[in-house]
This record gives sequence, structure tokens and C-alpha cells, in this order.
Amino acid sequence: MKVSLPELRQMKVDGRPIVMITAYDHPSGRIVDAAGVDLVLVGDSAANVVLGHASTVPATMDEMTMLTAAVSRAVKHALVVGDLPFMSYQVSDAEAVANAGRLIKAGGADVVKLEGAGPSVERVRALVAAGIGVMGHIGLTPQTATSLGGHKAQGRQADAARRLFRDAITLEEAGCFGIVLEAVPAPVAGAISRRLAIPTIGIGSGPETDGQVLVLHDVLGIGDDGPRPRFVKRYAEVGAVMAAAVTEYVEDVRSQRYPAPEHTYSIPDDQLERFESAVDAGSIDDNTLADW
Ligand code: KIV
Repeated sequence: MKVSLPELRQMKVDGRPIVMITAYDHPSGRIVDAAGVDLVLVGDSAANVVLGHASTVPATMDEMTMLTAAVSRAVKHALVVGDLPFMSYQVSDAEAVANAGRLIKAGGADVVKLEGAGPSVERVRALVAAGIGVMGHIGLTPQTATSLGGHKAQGRQADAARRLFRDAITLEEAGCFGIVLEAVPAPVAGAISRRLAIPTIGIGSGPETDGQVLVLHDVLGIGDDGPRPRFVKRYAEVGAVMAAAVTEYVEDVRSQRYPAPEHTYSIPDDQLERFESAVDAGSIDDNTLADW
């Protein structure tokens, strides 16, 4: 059975931490669902994590719909959150509803996520009125990181923290079922989480949020070897395992250790003899083959 929005609320009430992780393809969707996460986010972080862009900004609706559909086909239990990419919801309520509807109808998402407060609050209202579940995302919002002064923690000054607190309340009042708090100081994230009735999901926001989200590739140790944000906890070095496996495959092919007999299809001896004599006799047209 799919996780439901009331269940997520109940988890908050019970103090049971909610687990969310990203996935961008079908096999990963299957793995994270089987591991028991509550929410799978097909994040626009796909742009930098799997599509090779420098930021989330270039992600398109076509790309997000395709990736969301691949993940949705795999996920049976967790709630699938489709991420609205930059400029898919900023222009108007109508565009936001059409694009969110596409992530749900063509992408198979259960709910959608968008970033920011301010003008995004109207969009949340429009989406909720259209019957679409919406997750908010405040703090460090990667789509507008340039105007925030880069990828850095938000709400570290009293005024900025107060604005985040107010934005969270506004998003809850607009109808969000949950809010991602990214790179917010732990005590501020804790205060917001205690104030809201809806669950907060933190990334780099300490232990007092109602749940946590991380990027799958950060958890698994796949991807670039550049500096990592301090909140990332690496649970495996899958990238190193992949590199070693492919290096061994390269060596096996070059040294003719692969393919071995067990990787090879056979043909019955009598059929092989007939085939070889047809080739030797040059009798390889369709009529001759029909005689076989
Ligand atoms: O796109 C994404 O992966 C996200 C998470 C970092 C919350 O928005």
C-alpha cells in the first residue's frame, strides 16, 4: 500500500522520523522503495547529479517527466514526489497547474514539489485547488541560488531566520502537505518544525526536523569527487565498486578471459555441420535455407 499524506502527518504526531531520498531511474526507484523509504523525490537535482549540468536550473519539463515516469513505474510503496523545474511554475498559476498535472499524469508522480515562498505561495494555492498535493521547499533553494548569494546556509541572521519561519507558516496556510528545509541552522529548523502541523523534511538542517532527505548519489558515493556539503553522510563507495568492475571487464575482454564458454550459446553439432557446408558451398540464399 502507498504511503498517504495523513500517514505522514501521523508520523509527525507520533515522532516517527520520515525518510525521503532522491531517485532518477527505474532500478534506483526499485532499490530505495524496497529499502523502505517513505518518500522518493525525483528531484531536479537530476540536472547536476545525472545529466551533467552545473546546477538544477537547466532541468526541463520533458526531462523531469521522463525521469519521474521511470521512477514511478518502480515505486510501489513510497510516495513519489515530482519536482517542478525552474520556470515551470513561476510564470502563472495556469502554467504551474498544467506542468504539475503533467508530472502526475504522464510522470506518475503522486504529488509535486516547488521552491520558495513569496510568489510561490499563490502557485501552491492554485495547485491545491486543482487537487494536487504540494510540498514546499525553503532555505537554500537551488533554483534561485544565484540570488541567494550561492549555495550557502540560509537563516543564520535573526531577521532571515524570522522570514523563513514566517514563510513556512505561509506555505502551510496555503495548503502544503510538507516542507523541505534546506541548509537551515538546526535550532531554526527545529523551531519551524515545532510550530507547523505539517511535517518538515530537512537536508542539512539538523536533527529536529520531522524527517530527512538526501541525494541518493551522495549516500551511495557515486559522482564527482569534489568537496561535499558537511551534511552529507556517505554510506557506501559504490562509484569505486563500479569503476573496479568496469576496469576488470576491460581487462577481461582485452585478455580474452571474457566471454568464457558459460557466457556463450551453443548450436547442435548436426546443425553446425549443415550451416558450415552451406557456407562452404556458397549456398546461403533464402531458398537454400528453407530446405534446411
Ligand atoms: O532536487 C532535489 O534533489 C532536492 C533535494 C535536495 C531536497 O530538492
